[in-house]
Amino acid sequence: MSSTKAVLIIGGSGFVGTHLALKLRESYKVFATYHSRQISIPGVTFLPMNVTNQNWVKRIVYTAQPDVIVYAAGSNSFELAEAEPREAERIHTGGPATASNASEIFQSKFIYLSNGYLFDGHRGNYHETDTVLPYIAIGKAKLGGENYIRGRSLNYIIVRSSPVFGRGNGRRLSNLDYLRIKLSKNERIELYGAELHAHIHVSALVGLIARLVDSGPRNKTLHYGGLTKMTDIDFARAFAKRFGFNSDLIHPGRNAPKKWSGESSIPDFSLNSTQVSESLNVKPLLLEESFDLLEKELIPSS
Ligand SMILES: NC(=O)c1ccc[n+]([C@@H]2O[C@H](COP(=O)([O-])OP(=O)(O)OC[C@H]3O[C@@H](n4cnc5c(N)ncnc54)[C@H](OP(=O)(O)O)[C@@H]3O)[C@@H](O)[C@H]2O)c1
Repeated sequence: MSSTKAVLIIGGSGFVGTHLALKLRESYKVFATYHSRQISIPGVTFLPMNVTNQNWVKRIVYTAQPDVIVYAAGSNSFELAEAEPREAERIHTGGPATASNASEIFQSKFIYLSNGYLFDGHRGNYHETDTVLPYIAIGKAKLGGENYIRGRSLNYIIVRSSPVFGRGNGRRLSNLDYLRIKLSKNERIELYGAELHAHIHVSALVGLIARLVDSGPRNKTLHYGGLTKMTDIDFARAFAKRFGFNSDLIHPGRNAPKKWSGESSIPDFSLNSTQVSESLNVKPLLLEESFDLLEKELIPSS
């Protein structure tokens, strides 16, 4: 492994991006971008970037001259994308296209973070070979990004991940931070819980991406997630039980989005990780195993 490899994390100030920067700085020269929230991490060079500004993206890419780009920009929230589908398209489709074009000259490896919303949610446990049929805005925007990368990049990996959880970066609270704070204050919590996912601790996804930065297959789409699928409500209750909070504080909240109200069953967006497990020896985790990783994050050993 070359210790001088340069990695550019687009969306480095975000939840996944921060965890990734903390991991990769051990072995690489790491550049990370922020958009509206500047943060600093020792050993990581942060640069401002708006992916909708093509000239600026080019300048940043030329500054970093990256061997590898990890595209981790934009929110993973389907609700935000439903509210602003054009913006979601600009970030999840236009952004990767711009960044991949700008990096052509450096022949950078392009790792694009995608999700399970590309599927219709009728079956769950989706494999890489299953047909994608997104019907919500974030899934459509992600598919646009994936298609561009697959069609244009000569060296890419697309990682479709289940929702990941963990602590935020100190500057911005993660969903789990909000949950933990509310539970610790004994406050009632209302959650939207009308989708099934196989949540996984963020360090597991970061570990996979770190492997892909340096090795692994080329020009492939990979699925990664946990082994225990549940709704966000059941996830929150399981978290409360495991970490000694009162799970009775957690209640179903808002109604399902209009597009799903006609569905007879809960959409299941879980992903099957067999390919990653067999080809890269990266284990998908049971929820309890992810909670073990979270426990280490919450209570670091002295
Ligand atoms: N979190 C998950 O469970 C999960 C699962 C699967 C896939 N993913 C994918 O991983 C990526 C990151 O997710 P996340 O949860 O880390 O999201 P996040 O915490 O909301 O972070 C989003 C990042 O994108 C940046 N950003 C927003 N608008 C931008 C723009 N116009 N130009 C440049 N950068 C912009 C943000 O910068 P500022 O904060 O500085 O504004 C931040 O660094 C997303 O593409 C998501 O779909 C996430």
